[in-house]
Amino acid sequence: MSLSFEGRVVLVTGAGGGLGKEYALAFAERGASVVVNDLGADTKGGGKSSAAADKVVEEIKAKGGKAVANYDSVEDGEKLIQAALDAFGRIDVVVNNAGILRDRSFARTSDLDWDLIHRVHLRGSFLVTRAAWNHMKKQKFGRIIMTASAAGIYGNFGQANYSAAKLGLLGLSNTLAIEGSKYNIHCNTIAPVAGSRLTESVMPPDLVAALKPEYVAPMVLWLCHEQCQENGGLFEVGAGWIGKLRWERTQGCITRQKNQPMTPEAVRDQWDKVCDFTDSNKMTSVQESLQSIMTVLSKVESGHDVAAGPTAGPAAVASSSSGINPTVAVGQKLPPTTFSVSHMQCILYALGVGMSTKDPDHLRFLYEGHPDFSCLPTFGVIPSQAAMMGGLSAVPGLDIDLTQVLHGEQYLELYKPLPTSGMLTSEASIADVLDKGSGALILLDVNTYSGDELICFNQFSVFVVGAGGFGGKRTSEKAKAVVQPPQRAPDAVLADSTTRDQAALYRLSGDWNPLHIDPSFAAMGGFQAPILHGLCSFGFAARHVLKQFADNDPSRFKAIKVRFVKPVMPGQCLQTEMWKEGSRVHIQSKVKETGAVVLSGAYVDLHETAEESASVPQGGLQSELVFAEIGRRIKESGGELVKKVNAVFGWEITKDGKNAAEWIIDLKNGSGALHPGPSGGKADVTFTVSDEDFMDVVLGKLNPQKAFFSGKLKIRGNVMLSQKLEVILKDHAKL
Ligand code: NAI
Repeated sequence: MSLSFEGRVVLVTGAGGGLGKEYALAFAERGASVVVNDLGADTKGGGKSSAAADKVVEEIKAKGGKAVANYDSVEDGEKLIQAALDAFGRIDVVVNNAGILRDRSFARTSDLDWDLIHRVHLRGSFLVTRAAWNHMKKQKFGRIIMTASAAGIYGNFGQANYSAAKLGLLGLSNTLAIEGSKYNIHCNTIAPVAGSRLTESVMPPDLVAALKPEYVAPMVLWLCHEQCQENGGLFEVGAGWIGKLRWERTQGCITRQKNQPMTPEAVRDQWDKVCDFTDSNKMTSVQESLQSIMTVLSKVESGHDVAAGPTAGPAAVASSSSGINPTVAVGQKLPPTTFSVSHMQCILYALGVGMSTKDPDHLRFLYEGHPDFSCLPTFGVIPSQAAMMGGLSAVPGLDIDLTQVLHGEQYLELYKPLPTSGMLTSEASIADVLDKGSGALILLDVNTYSGDELICFNQFSVFVVGAGGFGGKRTSEKAKAVVQPPQRAPDAVLADSTTRDQAALYRLSGDWNPLHIDPSFAAMGGFQAPILHGLCSFGFAARHVLKQFADNDPSRFKAIKVRFVKPVMPGQCLQTEMWKEGSRVHIQSKVKETGAVVLSGAYVDLHETAEESASVPQGGLQSELVFAEIGRRIKESGGELVKKVNAVFGWEITKDGKNAAEWIIDLKNGSGALHPGPSGGKADVTFTVSDEDFMDVVLGKLNPQKAFFSGKLKIRGNVMLSQKLEVILKDHAKL
């Protein structure tokens, strides 16, 4: 679909020539009503003429477009917006483009050179934008462009006045992006490069001719279109190329120590570290920036991660080393915890992640009397979380500061639909500890059981800020990885507003961290207000997938993985973008109001429906996939299975009453193996079952005992060994 501006009213300042003229023509060509503003000044801001704007308006009209001219200076901001209202009744887009130059070396820059540049560029953009702001707010739509310059971003000889004003516009834009986001007013900044009368004095004529304004205008149009969710961005654009810029900050270095003055010598001695961009951070908000500075206070107090000053003795050096020792920590088990589930917990959790009786589909999760009353699959994180809170910092080899702990990623896999009542036991162990430089990443694996039956598995990725640098490895084969979504537009998008009390409600399921309810606690963490739990957004995303692709059937849910990227404030709207690729649904969650990505690299794996899976295997047997998966598992952890099972299983799979496939699962010899073909008398026990019934057993829809007694499953040999089937098909087949 081409991008149309039909019905939109666009003001382009300084549109009598150069880039502005090109923008005006391009907007008009796509249906916008355009106010062509230009004072008709010379490049230094002198003189005045209506000719420039008039010519552009004529050109637009000659092509059948809609435009009016305006000859006021941007310093009369109100008048420009009034011109739009008078001619077209509204204002949707403001492109702040008007500009002049008064280049001088710094020493020769006069007050007038300074003031005039600031008045036209910075103050002019402020006045025009302020005049439009309330109209945009009321109509809940607005797109604003600020025009900066590479001279502002990088500095340029002879342009002190211009550089300062141009980067001032970026600061203005950054704040407007924040203030405007909830009204769907987006503000972005461009630093263009194009041949124009402003650049003809500094560029050779060939270049002026080659760098056409039409290689910039489409970028401006995209940023100003209602489809574009970009907000607060800074872009360099020229010759048809567009690049985005952002801030990068070094890890930095603390240069003072507890109870000691900070000295210039300490700063000097740490200077290389202060300026070392290895493992740099990309800060995106004042909150993030402030939060990291706040952590310095507690680090200095605790002596963690503080560089030794020049006067520090050996004791101070020792206290700077991290309290993490992976050799000791990995494999440590946390004390098991129990969690009692009743319909109350299930319903409270469902409400906590935004389910509502407004949606009739949700009733099965909200009403214990519903015939299909179920627990939401992501409730599986709740009992296991209790295990983690139990005592991560008490684990030997993990001397960590709990105030520095961030929840980085989460993986959850269900082996059975969660029970709506009963007692669950969780066993947590440290799977790995990684050294990420800026912090330590702890992988905590938690298995949750109902009696002896494994119900679900969780992997918490816990980031401990400032605890890195202990010389450990950076990656782990035990980590469940995030997976980026396909490049195409999402296949489905669902959005749901959180309520002002979403975090207050969610915490009742068991996450009592005051960060989510207590404003002063949140402020200490550098947040303007208490933030929503990451696992609450996780619950929103998962139920969106369940609704969109699994008819709200919890038995279809297999696993979920997410990375927590940014906080969500209670009251914001969560939007889940989904891409279906086979049985995997990739997801990305955003805050609708700001466009900020909050969950990334995420996915939900679903069990296929009978129809879906029937169409997959080439041999026409659904069980083939299961055996392939069992084969992979045996390759991965066969040794462990041989120890546990110590038997050879034969399988005869039938289809339409005929023998269709045979398999041997050898978990007795060597490190185990899976072979196709008849067992030849090697099997301790042989099962005969139809392809369909086999799938039902695997998916938990058919109980193996029942299958046996009803004659669906035939067993020859040592019948007792069938009890070990569960181990192969569920716990380890991970189906
Ligand atoms: P241009 O000189 O062709 O266009 C600027 C227009 O603004 C002129 O038509 C001028 O009459 C008008 N103008 C000046 N003062 C005004 C005022 N007080 N009120 C209303 N209109 C006024 O220059 P160009 O190159 O098209 O520049 C457009 C914008 O892009 C400027 O803000 C400039 O600083 C910026 N820019 C351009 C670069 C380039 O490579 N062309 C590089 C970096 C930034």
